[in-house]
Amino acid sequence: MAALVECRSLLMVCGVPALTFRRYKFKKKWAATVPKIPPTKLALQYFDMNYNTHFDDVWPSIRIGLLSEQKYGALINNFSVSEKVMEKLELLGAQDFVFGTPEKIEHAKPGMGADFKTGGDCGTREQLVMEGCAGDTISPQKVTFSSDLLNNVPSLKCYTFARGDISRFPPSRYSMFWLNRPDVTGLLTYYLMDAASLLPVLALGVRPDDAVLDLCAAPGGKTLALLQTQTCRYVAANDVSASRIGRLQRVLHSYIPESFCSTDIVRVTSWDGRICGDVESRRYDKVLVDVPCTTDRHSLKEEDNNIFHKLRTKERQMLPLLQVELLVSGIRAARPGGSVVYSTCSLSQLQNECVVERAAEVMSSNHDIQVQVEDLSPLRELYQDTFRFHRTCRVGELILPHLTANFGPMYFCKLRRMN
Ligand SMILES: C[S@@+](CC[C@H](N)C(=O)[O-])C[C@H]1O[C@@H](n2cnc3c(N)ncnc32)[C@H](O)[C@@H]1O
Repeated sequence: MAALVECRSLLMVCGVPALTFRRYKFKKKWAATVPKIPPTKLALQYFDMNYNTHFDDVWPSIRIGLLSEQKYGALINNFSVSEKVMEKLELLGAQDFVFGTPEKIEHAKPGMGADFKTGGDCGTREQLVMEGCAGDTISPQKVTFSSDLLNNVPSLKCYTFARGDISRFPPSRYSMFWLNRPDVTGLLTYYLMDAASLLPVLALGVRPDDAVLDLCAAPGGKTLALLQTQTCRYVAANDVSASRIGRLQRVLHSYIPESFCSTDIVRVTSWDGRICGDVESRRYDKVLVDVPCTTDRHSLKEEDNNIFHKLRTKERQMLPLLQVELLVSGIRAARPGGSVVYSTCSLSQLQNECVVERAAEVMSSNHDIQVQVEDLSPLRELYQDTFRFHRTCRVGELILPHLTANFGPMYFCKLRRMN
């Protein structure tokens, strides 16, 4: 650099006009359009700084999972003619993880707060369905679920490859022509999703005649799972983003019969979810609050629409506040005795446990409403072979990405509104 300056001064002294170096000409434009550090790199730096201390020696394995290809689950569309597809998925080596084996249910142990009893023989999926998956009493000799935690196990089917098996489902273009092409009714036969996303829905445990609110519903994976249970009296799917609501409508159109959608069972709205607590106070039996978050896996992979982009710093910093407001609104929309499941796809304690704890405080101090955290250990027991659960959450459960079971992250916590 010193040599360059020296050379320039020498030319000027000799009466030669000063040269403008090319890179100076363009420097301003580069700086204005291209972020110095891409958002994905910023995200990784941020996670390394924050999660390394929180997860300690587990962080390296979570990190490598997050940076590797994620695993999917194929949620079977119960509205389609899907038997052949299930046979084909089984031929590929995939298995339904939701029901799994009767032994798994047998081994699901009672948790501290949950009234969950196991008997000798736990029965088949068909028995569970026939004996009323309402979850009250399936059979005294079989499995008795006194809580509503595992109500929907019999009605949802989601195929995954076993732990350690990194096979993939056929890419969608190929599967359109073979596996996941529309059936005779014109509906697609399965929906590819992060299988961990099903756990908040299973935790919600909808019962027949439940009115359910999905407060942040788009693009619609969990709404679709809720509808697959064919249990709810009413499902209200809401999302503030009109364009994402468009995606949700397309999902419903591809998987749910027109006749079902045109009934009073499904309602789609595009409100700011923070108003629902006021305008729909005490209306719902179950509420799902699947909030916007740092979407950790996406933030490490995609530059587009990345919450770690410099221009979105403020939005990112305000996330926990928005999350508390949405959860408070969701609890207020639940009836006394109703349940709320809060979920994120982030590992951040600030967006997970801290939000739940803060929302409980706000409910008590500002609204005089008490909430109780429900025990989710039966769910954890049942699915510990499929997912890797974090050992020490203060409240709720967290699924950690891992190379052998590369689902999540997915945090979920169930609350009951007491009054
Ligand atoms: C994690 S995504 C939901 C994913 C969805 N539940 C699913 O399973 O497909 C979070 C959603 O919250 C929505 N959102 C953000 N702010 C909101 C608000 N104030 N009210 C309602 N929805 C909001 C976003 O548009 C986004 O679609």
